Amino acid sequence: MFDVYEIKKDFPVLLQSINGKPVVYLDSAASAQKPECVINKMSRIYNTTYANVHRGLYALADEITTEYENARQTVQKFINAASAKEVVFTRNATESINLVAATWAMDNLHEGDEILISEAEHHANLIPWQIVSQKTGCTLRVFKISDNGAYLPEEFIKNLNEHTKLVAVTGMSNVLGTVFPIKDITAAAHRLNAKVLIDACQLAVHRPIDVQEIDCDFLAFSGHKTYGPTGIGVLYGKYEILQLMQPYQTGGDMVEKVTYQKTTYAQPPARFEAGTPAIVEAIGLGEALKYMLKTGWSDIEAHERELELYMWQKTSEIKNFKHIGTAQDKGGVFAFQVGNIHPQDLAYVLGKEGVAVRIGHHCAEPLVNRMGYTSLARASFGLYNTKEDIDAFIAAVKKASAFF
Ligand code: ALA
Repeated sequence: MFDVYEIKKDFPVLLQSINGKPVVYLDSAASAQKPECVINKMSRIYNTTYANVHRGLYALADEITTEYENARQTVQKFINAASAKEVVFTRNATESINLVAATWAMDNLHEGDEILISEAEHHANLIPWQIVSQKTGCTLRVFKISDNGAYLPEEFIKNLNEHTKLVAVTGMSNVLGTVFPIKDITAAAHRLNAKVLIDACQLAVHRPIDVQEIDCDFLAFSGHKTYGPTGIGVLYGKYEILQLMQPYQTGGDMVEKVTYQKTTYAQPPARFEAGTPAIVEAIGLGEALKYMLKTGWSDIEAHERELELYMWQKTSEIKNFKHIGTAQDKGGVFAFQVGNIHPQDLAYVLGKEGVAVRIGHHCAEPLVNRMGYTSLARASFGLYNTKEDIDAFIAAVKKASAFF
């Protein structure tokens, strides 16, 4: 039985008061808090089991290699990949996308080819493709979203054509919360033989992911947003595609045979994990995903849906509160503006009240500009947020409104 007050007790950061105010954390889209089981698991590994992976024959090395590979299997289960060999550990989603850009895209795209992205992309799913376009001569196309931040199927279809070789879209916008119909997008792209990459950083926190059902070719997400540690991310790739890709970085652990003249590479995923990986972070990520799976997607979604409805209801009581991004299919990420109050001033007052929100361009500057702003405030939910958190947010916004 899902009880958010019990869930909250699992997150030590949220149990504190800072400057006499309880922590109201509404910045999970930037980075989520970590449950105690993740912190304890990582500490236990360092205290009892630490060694390098894939190298030693002694007990500690065996044990940690098993833990590391078990974490890979947990990721496989979390996204329902066909095989754990399709799961590559990276530093974060940014590195996952850069990996695909530097290898698959640089080797397969040429002048005349096109990459198609949406207006709602994070810089991490925009800049790598700008660089590929500059280096290969291929064209980067951007399809429009609506003025309220919704996906526009006609705009996507209008821009998809026989030259499109890659569609790279977000599963859920980190600014607007818009959820993109990635299964339909993938099916349409595949009909024209284009590959599909999904930036699932926000989606992985708020919706279950089944890569076999979506049928995407690549999918990326970051550990620190899914209640895991920083420094660890995931690249999912269909095995037959990963197998044809060149390494991203070279060095230890990604080789089959090395001579002074020549090297042959290991099969994926090892081919893409050069050097000592973020071992304990990968294990911590495995623990975080187990925590989410144990909590259960239907409860997480139902709880967040309730919070979202409460947020709409309470914000409607504030004069001049404007939601930026009102697509029908939207998750727990709320960009907003209150009257003419500068987001910086707003966040300052909220911060003084113990309410954590993010402001700025949210690493999606063209999107924020396209919505008509240079900076926005954003409140975002995690599975631990309560209606009381929203009440505290509303009270702080009212205070700021009265002040400015
Ligand atoms: N990309 C993260 C955010 O949206 C950091 O805040």
